[in-house]
Amino acid sequence: MNILVTGGLGFIGSHTVIELIKSNHTVVIADNLINSKIDVLNKIETVVNVRPTFYQVDVTNELDVEEIFTNHKIEGVIHFAGLKSVGESVSKPLEYYYNNLVSTMVLSKLCLKYGVEKFVFSSSATVYGDQPSPLKEEVELKRTTNPYGETKAMSERILTDIANAHEKFAVSLLRYFNPVGAHESGLLGENPNGIPNNLMPFVTKVAKGELPKLTIFGDDYDTVDGTGVRDYIHVVDLAKGHVKAIENLNKGVNCYNLGTGKGTSVLEMVNAFMRVNQVAVPYEIVDRRPGDIATCYADVSKAEYELDWKAELTIDEMVRDAWNFEQKQGLIEL
Ligand code: NAD
Ligand code: UD1
Repeated sequence: MNILVTGGLGFIGSHTVIELIKSNHTVVIADNLINSKIDVLNKIETVVNVRPTFYQVDVTNELDVEEIFTNHKIEGVIHFAGLKSVGESVSKPLEYYYNNLVSTMVLSKLCLKYGVEKFVFSSSATVYGDQPSPLKEEVELKRTTNPYGETKAMSERILTDIANAHEKFAVSLLRYFNPVGAHESGLLGENPNGIPNNLMPFVTKVAKGELPKLTIFGDDYDTVDGTGVRDYIHVVDLAKGHVKAIENLNKGVNCYNLGTGKGTSVLEMVNAFMRVNQVAVPYEIVDRRPGDIATCYADVSKAEYELDWKAELTIDEMVRDAWNFEQKQGLIEL
């Protein structure tokens, strides 16, 4: 299949591009580099020996994106491009609504115009809000607590309405739980700008000595050790889930949780990181982070059954690969 991957130089997109190419698909990447670097393209080429066609475009710009549809016989779109910082979305709501919603509308409009029938969308477990785990796809969604989450919930609704109105337009809404880890080569991984908000990039910066200590947000939740529990999934497993999703796309709207189905606490994660990598991660327990929930993990039976996909990599492999990538940062420039 000829697949347009928006945000294909980002964290999840780049790993997915690799898995698509390994499965013999042809990839065209559209990315405006707002949160990624062009050298990721070289790194993808180093790993798979194929250089995907790259367009440096903003996918909210319909004219620029249309050029891709006229130049290539696109057969499917995987839409990763988006802004993703929850905190930033509260201070810059318009940027988030504009970027994340207009991009979804531009792409779906062009899919209808050019007869592209397969659309895979990066959604998030955040659309569930605070509900009991394990979370099943069919539970009623609760209003999310921030503009970022709302852009995901709204994009899901927009795509659902379009698929309901256009029989041939098939959509897969993939709700990711907590993607972590990195490619085993150490070439590709998550490298956020500034001080990270998410747990794993923060832990790797502390282990490297770039940040003094991890602050653990609360140890008084009703969980195994009082710290928050999440469903961490290795980014390579997540990437493989996208290949399955686009290859097995049924008519209409298909919604899948992509997680492992297992919850891991912050302390369990930090202890695994220290044990596997033999490196210290100093930490301090502080107050809960506003907006956090105690526990969030997936019921993954639907993806397993319908997509024949299951996450395989363990927590030990996630922390190993995250640390391998962090250590190689700045050492390899291609
Ligand atoms: P990322 O920031 O690493 O990748 C996103 C990519 O999209 C970047 O390369 C960025 O430059 C590009 N981009 C953003 N806006 C664009 C635009 N208007 N035009 C062209 N390119 C644009 O993020 P990621 O972690 O790889 O996430 C990918 C998608 O998955 C996002 O939509 C995100 O919201 C969603 N998601 C991520 C997580 C997570 O924890 N990483 C969890 C749930 C959902
Ligand atoms: C975050 C996003 C969510 C997104 C999800 C997937 C927020 C509020 N929510 O959720 O929208 O879908 O990522 O990527 O950002 N923790 C610490 N110390 C830290 C960082 C985190 O103790 O410095 C704890 C958190 O309290 C939580 C766990 O680690 O219990 C995971 O946090 P994080 O990586 O930010 O992910 P989520 O909160 O699940």
